[in-house]
Amino acid sequence: MNLSQLANPRILDQPVYEPGKPIEEVAREYGLHLDQICKLASNENPWGASKLAKEAARTSLEKVHLYPDGSGHQLINKLSSLHLLGSDQFVLGNGSNEIIELLGHVFLQPGDEVLCGKHAFVVYKLVALLMGAKPVEVEMPGLTHDLHKMRQAVNEHTKLIFLPSPNNPTGTANTEEEIHTFVRSLPEHVIFCFDEAYAEYLDSPPDLRPLIEEGRKVICLRTFSKIHGLAALRIGYGYGAQEMIALLQRARQPFNVNAIAQAAALGALEDDLWVTQCRKRNADGLEQLAKGLEALEIEYLPSQANFILSKPGDGRGLFTELQKQGIITRALGPSLAPYLRLSVGTEEENHRLLTALEKTRTIFGA
Ligand SMILES: Cc1ncc(COP(=O)(O)O)c(C=O)c1O
Repeated sequence: MNLSQLANPRILDQPVYEPGKPIEEVAREYGLHLDQICKLASNENPWGASKLAKEAARTSLEKVHLYPDGSGHQLINKLSSLHLLGSDQFVLGNGSNEIIELLGHVFLQPGDEVLCGKHAFVVYKLVALLMGAKPVEVEMPGLTHDLHKMRQAVNEHTKLIFLPSPNNPTGTANTEEEIHTFVRSLPEHVIFCFDEAYAEYLDSPPDLRPLIEEGRKVICLRTFSKIHGLAALRIGYGYGAQEMIALLQRARQPFNVNAIAQAAALGALEDDLWVTQCRKRNADGLEQLAKGLEALEIEYLPSQANFILSKPGDGRGLFTELQKQGIITRALGPSLAPYLRLSVGTEEENHRLLTALEKTRTIFGA
């Protein structure tokens, strides 16, 4: 009997998440120097983390021989004062990805259905499959989440609904009003997860706290990987009703979030000015990319996040061509084959990308 025969059969069918290609791998593959490569593939913050966050991380290195505070007390208190919610309304995760997985552990059983948009962040579907639940992908006309269609897809088997807004990879967002109406219309057996990974890029992100206060079954997710520039440290959090959080706390590992990440996240939350500056620079970057794409006559979707979904015609082909020039972007699955996702970089990186796109024009499809 081999190991695969001993494995949970679900694992054998589990699709593997394909992350943005690491700089080192592209350097090896194309014989390029690391400095020649710019990565616009994973929606990271091209200006990095705030100085306060980095200083806090460095200071915390002195205590790496000690286990972290497994309860994340200090950070959770800070989050509680920022969001004006109780400290028992927060759970920390090893990236917000971990909280998506915790939701699966806590709520999903074989036979349950998990609703998400057809072009939503792919991890929702992966977690559903991992737990033996059935992902139900709802059509997204115009590549935007259509909450009427999502409501129509709810049935007695629906357990969890994921809505990322702004969504990755489309960059589209839903309004607070439509989200409130949608959540209030849901039956009692359905849990709604609002993924706010890119919320800080919006001028005024939807506020779902009234829904939590009303007792709706809502969990909101945030991350430090995007505007806070701490992707390497893996830290995110969820907030919701005490009962929801208590259930998620049961499913996590005792020390799921390391001490360096906790310290850096606290530092990041002290630096509002950095967040405001990054939001502004990102808006400028989006404009630069949009104008450049228009000049090249490449279609794109207006974005509310830190990336832009372009439609050059042959996403994968262009992805490979750009890599030869040291630029890593993100090609997408078969349903978005003509598209290429471009993360906003620094002004110089965006310029490099646009210049490279111009050079590779000949391979653009229709
Ligand atoms: C919509 C969305 N949610 C969640 C995440 C996960 O973020 P992290 O696990 O780094 O916190 C991402 C990362 O790209 C994302 O795009």
